[in-house]
Amino acid sequence: MGDFNQNIDVSEIYEPPKELSANAHVKSMAEYEAMYKASIEDPESFWGEMAKEFYWQTPFEKVGPEFNFDRTKGPVSVKWFLGGKTNLSYNCLDRIIQQGHGSRVAIYHECNDVEDQHASFTYDDLLKKVCRLANALKAEGVKKGDRVSIYLPMVVELPAAMLACARIGAVHSVVFGGFSSESLAGRILDAQSSMVITADGVMRGAKPVQLKAITDKACEITQKDGFQVRRVICVGRLKGTSFEPQTKYDWVEGRDVWYKELVQSQSETCDCEWMDSEDPLFMLYTSGSTGKPKGVLHTTGGYMLGSFATTKYTFDYHPEDVYFCTADCGWITGHSYVTYGPMLNAATQVLFEGVPTFPEVDRFWKVCEKYKVSIFYTAPTAIRSLMKSGDQPVTRNDLSSLRLLGTVGEPINPEAWRWYHRVVGGSRCAIADTYWQTETGSHLITPLVGAMTCKPGSASLPFFGVETAILDENGKELSGECSGRLVLKRPVPSMMRTVHGDHQRFEETYFSQFNGYYFTGDGCKRDKDGFYWLTGRMDDVINVSGHRIGTAEVESALVAHAKVAEAAVVGFPHEVKGEGIWCCVTLNEGEAYDDSLKAELKKQVREVIGAFAAPDEIHWAPGLPKTRSGKIMRRVLRKLALPDYDTQDLGDTSTLADPAVVDVLTETAQRYE
Ligand code: WT7
Repeated sequence: MGDFNQNIDVSEIYEPPKELSANAHVKSMAEYEAMYKASIEDPESFWGEMAKEFYWQTPFEKVGPEFNFDRTKGPVSVKWFLGGKTNLSYNCLDRIIQQGHGSRVAIYHECNDVEDQHASFTYDDLLKKVCRLANALKAEGVKKGDRVSIYLPMVVELPAAMLACARIGAVHSVVFGGFSSESLAGRILDAQSSMVITADGVMRGAKPVQLKAITDKACEITQKDGFQVRRVICVGRLKGTSFEPQTKYDWVEGRDVWYKELVQSQSETCDCEWMDSEDPLFMLYTSGSTGKPKGVLHTTGGYMLGSFATTKYTFDYHPEDVYFCTADCGWITGHSYVTYGPMLNAATQVLFEGVPTFPEVDRFWKVCEKYKVSIFYTAPTAIRSLMKSGDQPVTRNDLSSLRLLGTVGEPINPEAWRWYHRVVGGSRCAIADTYWQTETGSHLITPLVGAMTCKPGSASLPFFGVETAILDENGKELSGECSGRLVLKRPVPSMMRTVHGDHQRFEETYFSQFNGYYFTGDGCKRDKDGFYWLTGRMDDVINVSGHRIGTAEVESALVAHAKVAEAAVVGFPHEVKGEGIWCCVTLNEGEAYDDSLKAELKKQVREVIGAFAAPDEIHWAPGLPKTRSGKIMRRVLRKLALPDYDTQDLGDTSTLADPAVVDVLTETAQRYE
């Protein structure tokens, strides 16, 4: 919590690359400042003008925003582009084709296996693919507002399925292919989606992932809760390849159907369902401070504008660019910056199925060379792990096509920033460190690299329309150079509208701390130049390799084990992952802790949440450090979890119900790891 960017050098600056600046959409600080000012002072004109880019079947009557961030004045609400009707799939495909770009490549699919022929899909191809599936879903009885769960690897059917749902007004809920069957089941149940689109399996590096088998198990779990998945549509990704024997799954007659068979007789055209600006587009589950992930709900008009505008300006997108975002569509980055944002900009992009280290650690750079990628967007954790292999794997590839690099997901440490800049970017590319959240749908704070100097470790300045404030613990707005809690004073167009099925939880999570503000959950500093430096989460959310995990989720996975009585989980600074997961458990009467139980507990967390949430360290303790009111003192655990902790430095432990617990913990923490 709040441990990043403690020792920053606010004076290390990098000027915008001259050539980039000369052709950029925003070329100077003066231009940025003028546009920013216009977006804040007159959002109606600013966003209204930009929204003309799109096709509106019924023009909006009012740009907005119409909103309330103050719970004392009534329910929290956000509305943009009131009265407008449009469709995301139409704007991503039909509109682009009408502009004459039908034969432009929308997607180069780069397969996991280098030997596999890559396939490319033009906007024309993609529209046909989307229409066939949209028609098939309609024939299956999927109607506007129905939820469809998507559990697919990074194949073209993934963005196509999202767009097919959008086309007919179904609400997609993409679940990242690294989640376990239990996590998938929880998300199917919460969304009540009777349809799941999955694949037989996929190779991730040298490892097969049994997506269909995991889906089968998830369906069994939902059945125990009385919920029946009606249809499982299965993409044959490994079928007919040499990896087929590795996929083992059942086939449930009447429920399961092959994607190919389902779509083959369908028409290649499909009318759009015209959606109100505020009709739901998708939901995406994310972690918070409680054990249960919440379905963040995004709507149509505002999200379309937010993902479009940020892709255009942050990445300074131009028609000759080749864009490559390494994120999976299972996360918000893949929603806004693989599926929607790039296509709304008629972009050509690489969709990558594999992992950065397969077959070798230079896979990203090989892909960049192969497609002459000019804009590359990845996560700090990937940069840090690749940095470990040295410069050679990068420099042995021709990366001269690159001009702009992006990072997302967590604060980037200055060493990683400098390496990215010098080695990957050949000291000539700009770097956009983009700060935002699943909840905001698009970038909040990011440099516009043609206009701004960059400082390694700082996400720079707010994007258009983003009105930030930094508050002290009492909710007072701080000015100038300061450090505190980052909030928004008004909604950005692409911000979430509610938590699916639980508006109260939406209000409590984001609007209960400070009346009238949306609280991001992040700590933040502002330096003398007005630059923002994100310092990490201030709640019980940890960021492991850019994946957001609630400590409570890991705790509930641990206590679900028959031998565990209680569990407490905190994050600790991790060289590659950003944060690692540190756990402490107490056991039921008569149980003993040993290496095999430790391994079982790690497995348990992998099974309940997913492999990416596997704990780095699990310690045993006779009791957890609690206050007299029974609250776990996480502050103490966070100190204990530090690799170089000092027992003298645990802070005030006088309010602990049993101060002796800390002594035992200090000792066991050493003994068992
Ligand atoms: C949390 C949101 C945004 C898409 C991927 C993660 C952290 C994200 C940055 C950044 C510092 C960052 C914040 C935020 N975060 N990007 N550039 N610098 N911190 O989305 O899973 O919703 O996580 O990630 O803590 O609140 P998410």
